Amino acid sequence: MTKPATTPPRTAPAVARTPEELDRLRANLGRVALVPTMGALHSGHRSLIAAARDHADTVVVSIFVNPLQFGPNEDYDRYPRTLDDDLAICAEDGVDVVFAPPVEVMYPGEQMVTVSPGRMGRVLEGEFRPGFFEGVLTVVNKLFNLVRPDVAIFGQKDAQQLSVVRRMVRDLCMPITVMGAPTVRDADGLATSSRNVYLSPEERTTALALSRALLSGADASVTGPVGILSAARAVLDEAALATPPVAVDYLALVDAHTFGEVPNDFRGEAVLAVAAWVGKTRLIDNVPLTL
Ligand code: PAF
Repeated sequence: MTKPATTPPRTAPAVARTPEELDRLRANLGRVALVPTMGALHSGHRSLIAAARDHADTVVVSIFVNPLQFGPNEDYDRYPRTLDDDLAICAEDGVDVVFAPPVEVMYPGEQMVTVSPGRMGRVLEGEFRPGFFEGVLTVVNKLFNLVRPDVAIFGQKDAQQLSVVRRMVRDLCMPITVMGAPTVRDADGLATSSRNVYLSPEERTTALALSRALLSGADASVTGPVGILSAARAVLDEAALATPPVAVDYLALVDAHTFGEVPNDFRGEAVLAVAAWVGKTRLIDNVPLTL
């Protein structure tokens, strides 16, 4: 009789709470890949961890809900914090080190010096969430300095964040390779996000309009920017009449490198991006397009 195949047990990752603990673990790690997260890990994060594994000897996942990137009326307090589940996922996925600092370790006092994202950080997400990219770049900079990774992996789901981080690394001469990993979608098309847990079943059904709109825009890509935007807009307009409705913050077709809106004769890599509210949940999604 053949024995059923069993998955070999994974060892739990080492957990560091402070820079000193991280430093002790940081010695002799070989090539290090960092996956920065705010926890509440899902299949999207797991794909980043898998990509990290392909590019390094050691995978470090940081778990830190960064207060600096939340506005005063945003969901910092209710953001899901699921450290035990996250550690179990990290063990299953063979993560070597989890860096999960408390807030007072990352921000022991007033954060006087921050990193400015420049004009890329003032459009789209930056316009609707003032200070967001400054908060993201500041914490990512700290994480880079503490973990000292060779590679850092970010999801394409947060396309503007990925571009702004790439630009910081380039403009500030940081010796790190930034890699993007494709958006992971659930079977119904919804992009995975830690915030999807906020959605009621009805809201989730309405939220599917975001991925449908992007698909419709992508299908119209031969028609150029005007055609792409109007195809996507038609889906969102219809979803604005649903119960519950979609309330769009922005729908934009932007240059993938600068996040400036593209002119109608644009040729190159673009991103069709959307942000919208369904109930009290703000969702973002995007699709990369080559025009
Ligand atoms: O994408 C996220 O989860 C966060 O913005 C990041 C990159 C971990 C910084 O806090």
